[in-house]
Amino acid sequence: MSTAQNARDLFRDLTGGAPAGLWSAPGRVNLIGEHTDYNDGFVLPFAIDHRTHVALGLREDGRIRVVSTFDPVPVEVDLADLDALFPTRRDEVVEWARYPLGVGWALSTVANTADVPRFPGVDIAIASDVPVGAGLSSSAAIEGATASALDDVWGLRLSRVDLAQAGRRAENEAVGAPTGIMDQMASMLGKSDAGIFLDCRTLDTEVVDLGFAAAGLEVLVIDTGVKHAHSTGGYGERRAACERGAEIMGVAALRDLSVADLDRARSLMDDVTFRRVRHVVTENQRVLDTVATLRREGPRAIGGLLDASHVSMRDDFEISVPELDLAVDTARAAGAIGARMTGGGFGGAAIALIERDAVAHISHTVTDAFADAGFAAPHVFTVHPSAGASRDA
Ligand code: GLA
Repeated sequence: MSTAQNARDLFRDLTGGAPAGLWSAPGRVNLIGEHTDYNDGFVLPFAIDHRTHVALGLREDGRIRVVSTFDPVPVEVDLADLDALFPTRRDEVVEWARYPLGVGWALSTVANTADVPRFPGVDIAIASDVPVGAGLSSSAAIEGATASALDDVWGLRLSRVDLAQAGRRAENEAVGAPTGIMDQMASMLGKSDAGIFLDCRTLDTEVVDLGFAAAGLEVLVIDTGVKHAHSTGGYGERRAACERGAEIMGVAALRDLSVADLDRARSLMDDVTFRRVRHVVTENQRVLDTVATLRREGPRAIGGLLDASHVSMRDDFEISVPELDLAVDTARAAGAIGARMTGGGFGGAAIALIERDAVAHISHTVTDAFADAGFAAPHVFTVHPSAGASRDA
């Protein structure tokens, strides 16, 4: 059954009726530009053909109720209470519900607070086929679909960038994950067969033709099944190291450094901080080089940049895990054009850019390598650059 139908069915089970509308937003793969977004840098993600659907209906009583395929138990609060819950009392809300309720909260604070009691209450049913914990931004998909739905029914008429920012605020403050803006922008702005080249300082975007389909290429996702969460541990530590590095160098953000500054950086900071800085600075350059290479030579020419990005994350930023390294090394040895881990790291998925007729061979080779290494079987599938958030009915 389709995810859209799942959302409708969940809605009917919850309310006994049909929704006022149906909205959806995709997960994303980041082609290149990892941990550059919160350093005011560049990223090149694309939205994927896995989506989260939201079925929404209005209610009379100013309450917001959410239910999802993640958990059969609905969560219900007064719209007027959202401001008291987030961010300080977020622990009172079960984790999955912080995403949609956090978006409701973020949007209600964008509007004049005096309007909040006048916003109609809503019932929201959420169904998703974006794998959770795979580094494919299942959370941004929930945020994007919920933000699009609420924007419509509350008559906010916000821009897509504003809706992405509301999603990020939910993620940062309602969920407590100190992430950047990349995932929400990719989910809101995605285009079919294209990447979104985003300047995370200005939020300017350019749609970059990826040309994978025309070139006969596929993007293989190798979900290692190793779960990660950005609200805990390593992600925040990496972010703090970047801020430390920027401070030592006397710049507002690592975006303000170039590869030519690295010698000076090495002389001013400890080795670990330096390597974190070097990853971000070189990764920013790789994003720019990838965009230029795609435009000049086409997608087959970007393999070396993807490979170099993985090495930098493995050795300098130290966010890979053995399963991701094995996925990348095996895919490459089996003929991939380029491969790298994607997303925040510490688990999740790797991507490999491959010839269409190599899908079966590379998938099997990677799966066999995981079995040989004694790792749990990975989930291997192709994804296609797809459209961003939409109203579907
Ligand atoms: C996660 C975050 C993003 C970004 C990536 C790393 O996906 O949500 O904001 O920082 O990690 O590139």
